[in-house]
Amino acid sequence: MLIDSHAHIDDERFDKDRDKLIESLKKDGIDLIINVGADLQSSIKSVSLSEDYENIYAAVGVHPHSAKEMDDSTIEVLKSLANREKVVAIGEIGLDFYYDNSPRNIQRQRFVEQLNLAKKVDLPVIIHSRDAAGETFDILKEAQDGNLEGVLHCYSGSVEMALEYIKLGFYISLAGPVTFKNARVPKEVAKAVPLDRLLIETDSPYLTPEPYRGKRNEPLYVRHVAGTIAELRGIPFEEVANRTSENTKKLFRIK
Ligand code: NI
Repeated sequence: MLIDSHAHIDDERFDKDRDKLIESLKKDGIDLIINVGADLQSSIKSVSLSEDYENIYAAVGVHPHSAKEMDDSTIEVLKSLANREKVVAIGEIGLDFYYDNSPRNIQRQRFVEQLNLAKKVDLPVIIHSRDAAGETFDILKEAQDGNLEGVLHCYSGSVEMALEYIKLGFYISLAGPVTFKNARVPKEVAKAVPLDRLLIETDSPYLTPEPYRGKRNEPLYVRHVAGTIAELRGIPFEEVANRTSENTKKLFRIK
């Protein structure tokens, strides 16, 4: 069985077939999905999906794109959502200096506040980082007091940086880009990351893997991420599926 450790099926692109899709996951070999919030509204939707379906768990948090929409009450709302039974992480949170949809100083401030929240409520974090590798690392290193756990979602950095994050206590998650023909660095990362530190995900509806590029992504396609990693490492598909599922359950403390 596979786990999709990061999806956004609250997205409106799933409005027409969400229930059907969730109900067919088990028979398609997908054990669980973690549905990840990106702002308050999607965090609330993630929690309600997790309460409606046994095979969905939720993360709550505000993405750097939406950091500018946060005010001081937002943290309080996230805190109360974090107490719900099936909320397993604070995320996705981080820095995005590629799009710069929120001013960088606000991104940094809200990222740090949400890291502190994660420590306060004793949950791991799901990190989004784009064109901000050095600063993301510095902020996480500063925040790491022995009580912070988490994953670098859709990891797009170098092998060296991945190993530094692992040393800091984090997991590395790979998504659709590892299947792209010209994706040299993600393929190197897929080979180099120790199997006990690797997660897989789709980031549905975004980042659709080969051979479905151009279509809407869905949790089912996580098998193509697993298949590519198995091929690159020269190990059985089942080993990638089992180990990444174990890692996901361990990080997010799912029984
Ligand atoms: Ni995402």
